[in-house]
Amino acid sequence: MGMVRTLSGIQPTGNLHIGNYLGALVNWVKLQEQYDAYFCVVDLHALTQRPDPEVLRSAVRELAIGVLASGVDPERSTLFVQSQVRQHAELAWIMMCLTPLGDLNRMTQFKDKSTQQPENINAGLFTYPVLQTADIALYRPEAVPVGEDQDQHLELARETIRRFNFTYGGDVFPEPKTVKSQAPRVMGLDGESKMSKSKNNEIGLFETDEETMKKLRGAKTDPARERRTDKGTPEVCNIYSYHGFFSTKEQRDEVAEGCRSASLGCVDCKKLLAQNMEAVKGPIRERAADLRSKPGQVDEILAAGAAKARKTAEETMVMVRERIGIAGGKA
Ligand code: TYM
Repeated sequence: MGMVRTLSGIQPTGNLHIGNYLGALVNWVKLQEQYDAYFCVVDLHALTQRPDPEVLRSAVRELAIGVLASGVDPERSTLFVQSQVRQHAELAWIMMCLTPLGDLNRMTQFKDKSTQQPENINAGLFTYPVLQTADIALYRPEAVPVGEDQDQHLELARETIRRFNFTYGGDVFPEPKTVKSQAPRVMGLDGESKMSKSKNNEIGLFETDEETMKKLRGAKTDPARERRTDKGTPEVCNIYSYHGFFSTKEQRDEVAEGCRSASLGCVDCKKLLAQNMEAVKGPIRERAADLRSKPGQVDEILAAGAAKARKTAEETMVMVRERIGIAGGKA
């Protein structure tokens, strides 16, 4: 019996931020210990934004570097680029024929994206969750680690997978469960919406200490606390929520007490946070710099990952083609 599989994906658009790290990558690193793990840089998904080809190429590489620097170990996990495994597009079409239009109409991300890029509301944007379903189904994983913003897409994937099994008899695909981290929804610096590449409210994973502190200085705190002498309510403060992810229990207690009694100012609270974030980001930044200096090594990792992913994907497709009656299944 082989190990149970896990699969997840991440888009090469913009830079990695601490939402991606805490919401997804932390779990990728953890799950690779016990699962046969597949992690995918989803460049086909990024095409929905029609990126410049050179920008896309370098974003894919940078993202792969970021994933590796965050602790995904190519000896344990299969890290690959989606477009290097053609079966994703093939299965996406098949899944599309099993997905009711009404289900796609309900997707909130499509509505958000249509507002964000009104000049380019393409069909890919609408069928995006079906490609995601195919990404998942191809590897027949039991667990998919993602942040909360992917809940709706994963529910759709489960429904489509169920429909496939029901329609074509069977047991081709297990139903994948969603695996959440301790931080399934990290808020952005605006304190109003989730941290997101498209909202310009993020703390980058590769940012230096100074860059982070600069952003934190302008970040929202408890809105009722205007002066240093005002007492604050940590529970409503976005900065305090970040302490929850980066600071020790003692530090959090001290910060909370200092805020409530006004003995600790917001600037000092932010400085401590920046310092604790740096303890996480610093080593990742260093590993990324090292990987950037060895492009051949990254290419090799991605080529080996794609070869392994293709093999697994093709095994699935042989079964799928046979079940649905198209060419390319078992003779
Ligand atoms: P993407 O590239 O937007 O985000 C990658 C991962 O980071 C998580 N995430 C967050 N978690 C917590 N708080 C936040 N503020 C935050 N922002 C992002 C996301 O939930 C995600 O886990 N459609 C997917 C990519 C994808 C995929 C897949 C995922 C394509 N195929 C198959 C799983 C399985 C996306 O756009 O993620």
